[in-house]
Amino acid sequence: MAEVRYEAASRVYPGSPPVRAVDGLNLSIEDGEFLVLVGPSGSGKSTALRMVAGLEDVDEGAIRIGDRDVTAVPPKGRDIAMVFQSYALYPHMTVAQNMGFALKLQGLSKQVISEKVAEAAKMLDLQELLERKPKALSGGQRQRVAMGRAIVRDPAVFLMDEPLSNLDAKLRVETRANIAGLQQRLGTTTIYVTHDQVEAMTMGHRVAVLKDGLLQQCDTPRALYDRPANAFVAGFMGSPSMNLRLAVVANTSLRIGELAVPLTRETVSAIGRHNLTEVTVGIRPESLALAAPGTPNGFDLDVELVEELGADALVHGSVVGEPESDRLVLRVDGRTPPALGQTARVVLRDATEIHLFHPETGERLI
Ligand SMILES: Nc1ncnc2c1ncn2[C@@H]1O[C@H](COP(=O)(O)OP(=O)(O)OP(=O)(O)O)[C@@H](O)[C@H]1O
Ligand SMILES: [Mg+2]
Repeated sequence: MAEVRYEAASRVYPGSPPVRAVDGLNLSIEDGEFLVLVGPSGSGKSTALRMVAGLEDVDEGAIRIGDRDVTAVPPKGRDIAMVFQSYALYPHMTVAQNMGFALKLQGLSKQVISEKVAEAAKMLDLQELLERKPKALSGGQRQRVAMGRAIVRDPAVFLMDEPLSNLDAKLRVETRANIAGLQQRLGTTTIYVTHDQVEAMTMGHRVAVLKDGLLQQCDTPRALYDRPANAFVAGFMGSPSMNLRLAVVANTSLRIGELAVPLTRETVSAIGRHNLTEVTVGIRPESLALAAPGTPNGFDLDVELVEELGADALVHGSVVGEPESDRLVLRVDGRTPPALGQTARVVLRDATEIHLFHPETGERLI
């Protein structure tokens, strides 16, 4: 087991212009931690993971595993095991042979290999399938074999790149719980890449958000959700996304249509320090609520789309009197959603449930 550290690590793909796929990454993953790397397509997640695996050059900075600088160590010498999106199982080998292959290469005895394979198969509920070939397995079973192959090696670090993306939605939910549980039991330091923020929130002890090769924020899922460091993280984490829009600062309040949101003294002074007359305000869909027509300190919303999800419903619409602004979305009780085309009265549940960002830099103000 080991800690993993990126020390100002960069990967720059040659070309004109060169691509800084991972740019000056500083990040420490603690011994035994489950860290999720998340970000949109092309943000550098796979590259960052492959740098730890030794499958990608480190052009600047260093990578450490435990107390070793592994920047120049080839993949074999790094004591890591990787699980890919395409499980890359050997088609001509049985499940047991696939799982034991790396151990065979290490020259372990048949006896030891079969013990380790049996132990991993038990953990992954693969005992009945050990003699099958991969083509006779379902997607979920193949995924478990790929996990098994990593587990038998008992590495210092697991590296996983979107290991669930070939599974259907239901199996993905089950399997993510299994992987998180397994990691907990084994206590092996794990870096897990996904573009799915729900996976990130549910699996990670901490989540690191990447954009354009740059680390935006690394924190617990709760902290990312409650205190996103910038408007990008705010919009990326959470589904549906946080509503983000410009709002005018009027003395000690913010205006969104007819709605005036009182600001704390600290917020007013933060806005003053930056000399702003407008800020980007972020409001989670669940921080807005429906209210009776004409309720004071609210705004009217033209309902343009209602998505009924069962327990709750998502209501999308534009603020009456602000036709130019982006649509808003709010999460309401699924039993009483407004109808399409109606005008709904909307209030803010709590004035403290807003997030304020600099309108140009996107940085959190307070
Ligand atoms: N071999 C390569 N040569 C040049 N550029 C590359 C190479 N591999 C990746 N890139 C570029 O580096 C950036 C990061 O790619 P990377 O594969 O790490 O992204 P990602 O976050 O894993 O995306 P996805 O979610 O689509 O898998 C992208 O702009 C990509 O086009
Ligand atoms: Mg990738």
